[in-house]
Order: sequence, then structure tokens, then C-alpha cells
Amino acid sequence: MTIEPRELATARYGARSPTRHSTHHHRAMDVKDDERANANANETKTQIVTPWDVEGVDGQGVDYDKLIKEFGCAKITSDMVHRIERATGVRAHPFLRRGMFFAHRELDGILDAYERGEKFYLYTGRGPSSESLHLGHLIPFHFTAWLQRAFKVPLVIQLTDDEKFLWKDLTLEECERLGRENAKDIIACGFDAKRTFIFSDVNYMCTPMYKNMMKIAKCVTLNQVRGIFGFTGDSNIGQVGFPPTQAAPSFPDCFPHMFGENKKSLRCLIPCAIDQDPYFRMTRDVAPRIGGYKPALIESRFFPALKGESGKMSASDASSAIYVTDSPKEIKNKVNKYAFSGGQLTVEDHRRIGGNLDVDISWKWLNFFLEDDEELVKIGEEYSSGRMLSGEIKAKLIDTLVPIVLAHQAARQAVDDALIDEFMSTQPRVFASLFGNMGDIAGALDETTIANAKPGVAIGAPAADGDDEKKIIQIQAQTGENGEPMSKTQQKKLLKDAQIAEKKARIAEEKAAKVKDAEANN
Ligand code: TYM
Repeated sequence: MTIEPRELATARYGARSPTRHSTHHHRAMDVKDDERANANANETKTQIVTPWDVEGVDGQGVDYDKLIKEFGCAKITSDMVHRIERATGVRAHPFLRRGMFFAHRELDGILDAYERGEKFYLYTGRGPSSESLHLGHLIPFHFTAWLQRAFKVPLVIQLTDDEKFLWKDLTLEECERLGRENAKDIIACGFDAKRTFIFSDVNYMCTPMYKNMMKIAKCVTLNQVRGIFGFTGDSNIGQVGFPPTQAAPSFPDCFPHMFGENKKSLRCLIPCAIDQDPYFRMTRDVAPRIGGYKPALIESRFFPALKGESGKMSASDASSAIYVTDSPKEIKNKVNKYAFSGGQLTVEDHRRIGGNLDVDISWKWLNFFLEDDEELVKIGEEYSSGRMLSGEIKAKLIDTLVPIVLAHQAARQAVDDALIDEFMSTQPRVFASLFGNMGDIAGALDETTIANAKPGVAIGAPAADGDDEKKIIQIQAQTGENGEPMSKTQQKKLLKDAQIAEKKARIAEEKAAKVKDAEANN
């Protein structure tokens, strides 16, 4: 039997997952399509995937096909993977080739734009709730670093210290500290300091970010966030009000020092695991109403727990996770002791029946981390046919993980305070230098451009054309309140209403000016 890494990698993960946080035990729903989601809720009562909880049905792993339907996102096809390779001229990352990044929202829109020569930026993040990352967290960061290199685009990374403060039993100051610690691990994943901005919510919060948050917040009702995130009467009001904070960085004008002040200067692509999808369903729903592009998403399945029981590896259970700080000895012990095996009970049975790749964690982890496609296929064949034993596949996994973790530790060691400060700096950048092969072109800019640069705003960024009321009304006219296309009659009516409102405002202004004049003459 020939084993295709991609097919095997897409097998369902085993058994029941522990919940990371029990406050929001519910199914996630699409803002725009409550009915479809409700119908699915009746079919699959217990599948839970939210930013806080991941739990399969009746102790099974997450059913990703069902999830795609429930969430309303799309599958990444092999045509799309080839298209990315053609657009970038770079061979697809193993996570893409093997279907680890399996779902998307409007990725084709980003590719269309990129092929037309339009620019985009990447946005991802981390909730700093623990001292160090586990291997599952490396998935989106390694992949994002690859996207940055392949497309040669800028990136913003949000550290949601505020989110973790609101959800965990931690002080705000501790969450800030953990954020800076986590930033070292993130930087160690290989981002380009010239094109990357890492920020802590608590430290960065500024007028452009706050304005975006307020505009988003006004568009979403309490009933909607209850439906999307499962908030209850017991949720603290900081939690209920948090989603706009994670939504806002999807709009480039949150970062004037990187991208300027124009909300439509750039499109945004968000790489993450599918647990973060609820935040961005909400964001996409709101985007047209605040005058922005809907962010696109590229989403991964979960890196499973060592013990094989959960849909997602948890940082709070040391025996379910390998951390980027673990020593080679700890890695070896954990894999040998805890990695759930698909091997048979006796060597005789194993030789006869073979290993079960559908549940074997060593095999699943190798699919994520073993780069060599041919070797992976060979291991799959050997193990499933019974020629390779459980202890031998575990040894392959240990040999694969140890150099990756050691390389990470060495890269982290090299990250000093000055480098973190460089990544977190709000010094205006040269807009053009963030893209393509432009490098640092500051020296090549003409003096007028430099002299005319606005303080705090990226040099040479597209000018703000204002997200004033009139422009938003025009966008609404094209897309409707809910992002749905409007009929011509509806569009005409909305524009007419806008013209009447504008005329009324002008008359009121003129009247006020006359009154002022009269008062001044008296
Ligand atoms: P956090 O800190 O829970 O997770 C950070 C990133 O890692 C992904 N992830 C996983 N991926 C694969 N397998 C796993 N077992 C696994 N566990 C976590 C998460 O999906 C995430 O991409 N609220 C967010 C922080 C955030 C963010 C964002 C994430 C803010 N803005 C934009 C993505 C995109 C959080 O607490 O992530």
C-alpha cells in the first residue's frame, strides 16, 4: 500500500479532549447563519471548538469536515496549494502540502489581489498564559514565518495579555511579563525584524487601535457575542467586551507607524488554528460596516496531545505536552512514557496486524515535524505493515524532535532585550521597505517625502482618505448592513437617505453660522 502523507495526515484525531477553560462550554456559531448552525447543533450536540475549549463528540477527536460546515469556511484544495507555489515561486511548506493548514476564508481573494500586484499583511497572535510555548503553538508561528518569507510581506503579532488577565487567575502585570517572555519564543521562530511588529495590548493601546475597537464594538450586540462565544450571565464584562480587541488588528490603520492611516491601504491574512475562527467570523461580519476589507484566514487543525486523548494539546497538563524548554532527556522520557501508541499488545500481533496510524501519536507528530516526504511515507508503510515496532517509531519521533527543540532553544538564547525592543518599536517604518525585495530603502527616499512625513506615521504609506460617514454609507450601499449584496433599489434608497442627511446637516450648519453672526453683531 502506498501511503500519501497528505491523506494520512488528515485522519481524525483520537478521543476526548480536556477543556482548557470551562466557563464557555458551548458550540460556536456563525453570526450570519444562525439557522444553519442550529441545525448542525442538533446533529452534533457535543462538538465544541472555541478559543477556550476544544472537545470532540462522545470522546472522539474533532471532526474537521463537520467543523468546516458548521463554521462556514472552505477547504484548502491542492489547486490552491499549487497556486500559492506559482505566485511565490517557493515550494509549499509541509504544513500546506500535508493538509495541516486545511481551511480558509477568502484565501483565493488574497491570491487574486497578490497576483494583481496588490499588497497585503499578515496578522497572528498569542495569549500569554504560560512561561513557555508548547510544540502546538509552534505550528502557526513556523507557518507564519514561512508565509512572510514566501510572500515577502509585513506582519503584526498581537500578545493578548489583557485576554489572559480576564480569563485566567493571573495579575495583569504577570500577563505582561509572560507576553515579553513569549515574545522571545516567537522571535526564535525566525521572523524578519524589519517587516514585523510585535505588540502587547496593554502597552500598545493607542487612539487608532481604540477607534477601531469602538467602531467594531458598536456593530455587535450582546446576543451576537453570546451566540458566537457562549458568554453567559456569569462572564465578567471584560470578557464580553474583549472580542473587538482581537478583531481590530485585522485593519491596517490600527498601525499607522507600519501601514499609515488608511483603513483600506492593505488586505489582511490571518494564519491561526481553527479555534480562533469565532473572533474572525465576527470581524468579517463587521468589516464592511466600518469601511474595511474582510480579513482572510488560513486555518490549521490542532496538534494533538501526547496522550492522544484530546483535540488540542494543552499547556496546563505537563504530561500531555512537550514544551520548547524541555531537554532532550525530558523529550525522550515523555515520548516513551506518554505518546499514545497505535501498536499492538504483543510483538507477534504487531507483526501480523501492523500499527494503527489513525490513533498513533508518534505518527501524527511526525506528519507535522518530519520534513522529508519520502522518509515519512516509508515510516508509514513500515509501521502500518508491522515491520516497524512502536518503540522504533517513537525513536524516530525523538530523533526528529530533539534537533528542532534544541535549535529553537539556541535561537531563543540569542534573543536579547534590544532585539525584543526592535520588534516592538513604534518608530515609523518606510512603507515600501515592508514588501518584496525593497529592503531598507530609507536612504533612497527623496527629501520632500521625508520632510512631509507625519510624526508617528509610516513614511510613504498611502494617504488616509478618511473612513468618514459618507464613505461608509457608500460601502454599505454596495454590501448592505450584513455584508450581503443589496438590490439596486435598496442602494438608491440608501444613497438618497445619505444625500438628504447631508443636505440637512448643511442647512443646520448654515443656520448655526447665521445665529452666531447675529449674536456677534448684537
Ligand atoms: P493561543 O495563545 O491560545 O495560541 C496561539 C496560537 O497557537 C494556536 N494553537 C494551536 N495550533 C495548533 N495546535 C494546537 N494544539 C494549538 N494550540 C494553540 C492558536 O490557534 C493560535 O494561533 N487569543 C489568541 C491570541 C491571538 C491570536 C490573534 C491568535 C490574538 N490575535 C490572531 C491567532 C490570530 C490566543 O490566546 O492564542
